[in-house]
Amino acid sequence: MSAPRLLLLGPPGAGKGTQAQLLVERLEIPQISTGDMLRAAVAEGTPVGREAKGCMDRGELVPDAVVIGVAEERLQKPDAEGFILDGFPRTAAQAEALDGLLEKLGRPLDVCVAMTVDEEQLVERLLKRAEIEGRADDNEETIRNRMNVYREQTEPLIAYYRKRDLVREVDGLGSVDEVADRIRKVLSP
Ligand code: AP5
Repeated sequence: MSAPRLLLLGPPGAGKGTQAQLLVERLEIPQISTGDMLRAAVAEGTPVGREAKGCMDRGELVPDAVVIGVAEERLQKPDAEGFILDGFPRTAAQAEALDGLLEKLGRPLDVCVAMTVDEEQLVERLLKRAEIEGRADDNEETIRNRMNVYREQTEPLIAYYRKRDLVREVDGLGSVDEVADRIRKVLSP
């Protein structure tokens, strides 16, 4: 697959960011993480950051219009011939906007890797990260809210992509290397 266009889908803490970074090195395509871009906007105090901060702190989704704008701008850059989407899309409206843009650019998605991990393991991982990195939304109450938001608004996207036969499920439990191996296998079966 040359310059593959991948989407990593999964609940908070599933390992999307960790695996995306390994894929960046291996496939030499950029990671497009709306979470990272929004956190940078918050840190810089831009208008997008000011709009996003409250939602992020509460573990709610940032409004579609804001996130779609951020993602579309990034996807139109010349280095995004191939890409690893991490944390976008997260709602039906975002998925539809992405479809429209990719069609316009002539760059359709190749694969959606759906990562699954048991919820208690996810909470444990994120609480551990809280001790190390101190991310504002890694406290138990916000984590639980992020899980609920994922189940209600994002998980249905798996069915959306399954209809187009793009979904490859990957067990996200195990070491980072074990999960990376599973992803490698589903990308080149
Ligand atoms: P975002 O930054 O996307 O956060 P998230 O989806 O909650 O994802 P995480 O970063 O928590 O988890 P991950 O799956 O990337 O796992 P990671 O590799 O980091 O979004 C944050 C917020 O921004 C949202 O709540 C929302 O407000 C807003 N937002 C972002 N995108 C949006 C959108 N499209 N629409 C609307 N709002 C949006 O790993 C987690 C931890 O586990 C790490 O410490 C890692 O070291 C560890 N770990 C990873 N793999 C393993 C393993 N195999 N074994 C043990 N530990 C592991």
